[in-house]
Amino acid sequence: MNIDEVRSWTKLPMLAVLSVIFVVAGVGGVPPTENALLVQVLDAVQRTLNFFAEDYSAINVDGLFGLRLGQGQMREAVRECRVRTCDAPLLRRLTDIEALLNNASDSALPYLEAEDPAYFTRFHATIDQPYVLPYQGELVEAAFDTGVEEDLIEKSNTGAKVDHIEMGDTGAIVGTNENYNEEAGDACYARMLGSYQENEKTLPRCNITTNCWKYMTQDDTAAYFITHQLLYFIMTEHVGCKGQLEAFTQGRKIRELQHKFCRKIYQESKQLSSTGKVKNYRRDLFLEQTVLCGPLGFENFYRSDWIRMVLSWPDKRLGCFRQHSVDDDLKALMGDLAATVQSGHQRRNTHPSSYETTKDVTMRRLLREKQMKDGCLSHTSGLGFGVLCSYLRFLVRHLYTSSHM
Ligand SMILES: *[C@@H]1O[C@H](CO)[C@@H](O)[C@H](O)[C@H]1NC(C)=O
Ligand SMILES: *[C@@H]1O[C@H](CO)[C@@H](O)[C@H](O)[C@H]1NC(C)=O
Repeated sequence: MNIDEVRSWTKLPMLAVLSVIFVVAGVGGVPPTENALLVQVLDAVQRTLNFFAEDYSAINVDGLFGLRLGQGQMREAVRECRVRTCDAPLLRRLTDIEALLNNASDSALPYLEAEDPAYFTRFHATIDQPYVLPYQGELVEAAFDTGVEEDLIEKSNTGAKVDHIEMGDTGAIVGTNENYNEEAGDACYARMLGSYQENEKTLPRCNITTNCWKYMTQDDTAAYFITHQLLYFIMTEHVGCKGQLEAFTQGRKIRELQHKFCRKIYQESKQLSSTGKVKNYRRDLFLEQTVLCGPLGFENFYRSDWIRMVLSWPDKRLGCFRQHSVDDDLKALMGDLAATVQSGHQRRNTHPSSYETTKDVTMRRLLREKQMKDGCLSHTSGLGFGVLCSYLRFLVRHLYTSSHM
C-alpha cells in the first residue's frame, strides 16, 4: 500500500460523514432497490449497453473512450455494492452488466486497430483499459455562499429523507476561450502517453514540458478547451504519471488542479442547463463535463434534476443518443453564433455534422462525431453511457450509506 492509499483510507470516515448529508435513504421502509431513480438509471444503462454490445464493430475511438469510463464506474458500482452489502439481486444485475460491458469493450479493440492503425497506436493508452478514477466525495466549493439550495436526490416517492446542500453561485468565473489548439494539445497528450516522437525516437512516457504545463493550466478557457485541460490531468493519473507531474510542479497536487477545473466547469454546466433544458447540440458538451468531474467525486454534478434530464435523452427504443432535428440544431447554433460574434469571440467545433471525416492522426477525434446506424452518435452515446454508469455508481454509494453501514 503506498502513501496515497493510506492517506485516502484514513480520510474515509470523514467522507462517510459528509455523505450522510446528501441522502438518507431507506427511511420509510422502502428498500433502496425500489428507489425510482436507481431503477430508471439501471434500465437506461442496460439499454445503452445493449446498443453498443449488439454491434461493437461499429464503435469508434470516441465511443470506446466513453465505454472505458463507464467500465470503471461499473467496476466501482459493483465494489461499492459489495462493501455496503447491498441487495443480492442488485449485485447480480450489476455484475451481469459489468461482464457484458467488459466483453463489448475488449471486443471492439481489434476493429479500431484495423480501422485506423496510426491513431490507434498514438492514443492506445487512452482506450486500452477501464478508467478507475480516485473518487473523493466532495463539493466544488463556492467562494461566496449565496445560499442557493440544490438537492441532490429528490424527496421522492421512496420515502427517502433528503437534506439540502448550500451552494454559492459566484464561485468561479466562466472563461471565454473555446479555441483548443489541437496540434499543441495532442503533442502534450502524446508526451504524457509515451507516444511522442522526436528525432525519430519515441520519448519515454510521463514527459511534461513547461509549454505543456502552461497550455494545460491556461486560464480563461471554456467548453471543450477546459474539458480537454481537465482530461489531461485525468489521463496523467490514468497512465500512472501523477508522481512525475507533482514532481514537475514542485508539489502542487493534481487533485487541487482537478478541483479548480471542475469548479469552473460546474458553472458552465449550470449555464448550459439554465432554462431547465440543454440545447441539443450542447448536450455532448454537458455530458463530457459530467463524465469527467462526476467520477472524480465532485457530487454537485449528481443533482437529481440533471439525472432526470439526462435520463430523458437516450432514444427509448434504440438506447443510443441520437442527432435531433438538424433544423433545431441549426437554429440554436445560429443564435449562439450571432451572440458570439457580437461578443467578439469565435467558436469552433460546435455543430456535430461539422465534425466528421478528418483523416489526420490527432486527439481532436475525441471531439469528432461519427454517425452510427439509425442516426446514433458515437461520441455522444459513449459519453452518455459513461455518465449513466457514473449515476449508477453514485446512487449505489449513497443509497446504501446510512441504513446499511
Ligand atoms: C463474450 O463474448 C464472447 C464472444 O466474443 C461470447 O461467446 C460470450 O458469451 C460473451 N460473454 C458475455 C458475458 O457476454
Ligand atoms: C521531456 O522531453 C524533452 C525533450 O523533448 C526533454 O528535454 C525533457 O527533459 C523531458 N522532460 C521530462 C520531465 O522527462
